[in-house]
Amino acid sequence: MTRHYLMCRPEYFAVEYAINPWMHPEAGADREVAIRQWEGLKSAYEELGHRVSLIDPVRGLPDMVFAANGALVVGGRVFGARFAHPQRTAEGPAYLKWFTDHGYDRVHEPVFVNEGEGDFLTLDHLVLAGTGFRTEVAAHGEAQEFLGRPVVTLRLVDPRFYHLDTALFPLDGRNVAYYPGAFSPGSQEVLRHLFPDAVIAEEEDAAVLGLNAVSDGSNVVISAEAAGLQLELKRRGFEVVPVELSELRKAGGGPKCCTLEIRG
Ligand code: ARG
Repeated sequence: MTRHYLMCRPEYFAVEYAINPWMHPEAGADREVAIRQWEGLKSAYEELGHRVSLIDPVRGLPDMVFAANGALVVGGRVFGARFAHPQRTAEGPAYLKWFTDHGYDRVHEPVFVNEGEGDFLTLDHLVLAGTGFRTEVAAHGEAQEFLGRPVVTLRLVDPRFYHLDTALFPLDGRNVAYYPGAFSPGSQEVLRHLFPDAVIAEEEDAAVLGLNAVSDGSNVVISAEAAGLQLELKRRGFEVVPVELSELRKAGGGPKCCTLEIRG
């Protein structure tokens, strides 16, 4: 099925502050390489037949390329983001404005801290929601009320996997892949209960942000380095589309972080 994604060209991308353990401002990042890699991701979606819309990057917001954090859109309802760190605060209103400018009128201004699809992942019958590093638990209830979908709280415990989308991705509307070590014991049990047939990722694949992947139900766009996970996905009948995003990983982001799905 054709998807609609919102992306933001990394025109002002840089690693100039550290708000997660992947970020090393003293080492920096190469913007030209980041742009080239990002273009590769955008082309991969277009070659799969998906629609890509673009939001204008804003000077002074080096992390704005990570569109996943900009909102959560389900059934045409736009749940706005409210960032945990002041360095990213201005991205929330910038993304919301894109949606209102493009005719979306069911828009929610967030009360509690939430980082959009970074911490909210949508399946057919529920929304999985991360907490522990960024998104507040109270935002999970706020999202449930606005979207009218059940929201299941999952607790993240490993700072390398600070957003839910670094530790888990939906394979389709019903099943997921995840790295258990990123979750609290109780949340691991919840995941086992909900998804007995899940793809369980190894730490080495999680450590190259292999779980920060985007599936359309048949094709999985995934970090080129996540070899073991790619093998297992192929075994399960998925088409694997490897993309190289090593420069954006220096800010803690992979394919999914650069991609906000607009669910009509
Ligand atoms: N540097 C960004 C941050 O720490 C990376 C965001 C990655 N986005 C994501 N959806 N995991 O906020």
